[in-house]
Amino acid sequence: MRIHHIGYAVKNIDEAFKFFKILGFEKVNEKVVDEERKVKILFVKNNEYLVELIEPYGRDSPIENILKNSGSSPYHICYESKDILKDIEMLKNDGFVLISELSAAPAINNQKVCFLYNRKVGIIEILAE
Ligand code: NI
Repeated sequence: MRIHHIGYAVKNIDEAFKFFKILGFEKVNEKVVDEERKVKILFVKNNEYLVELIEPYGRDSPIENILKNSGSSPYHICYESKDILKDIEMLKNDGFVLISELSAAPAINNQKVCFLYNRKVGIIEILAE
C-alpha cells in the first residue's frame, strides 16, 4: 500500500513546527482540532514527504501516553487504500487488530480512516482514498 503520511506525536504543535521549519518543512494547511480523537493536527510537508504533527487535546488524549513513553516521536505510518473494507479484513486475517473503527478524519477532508495494531509493527493507519 502507498504511504500517505507519517504521524508524529508532539507536545505542542506551534513549538514543534519552529523546528520542523528549520528542517525544511512547510505547513500544508492550518491546525485542525479533532474533538472525537482528542487531538490537534497540523500537516506539514518536506518535498514529497507528508508528516502529521499530532498534539494532545483535552483530557485523556491517547497521545499523552505516547509522549510519556517515547517523547516527541513518529508513532504511525498511514497507508492509502483503494478498497478499505477489503484491506481491513485482509490485515485482520494477517495478524493486525483493529484499535479504532472506521470514521471520518476532519484533518483529511473527512476521508475515512481507521487504526490497526500489530505487536511486530506497532500502530498503522489506513486511509480510504
Ligand atoms: Ni495519521
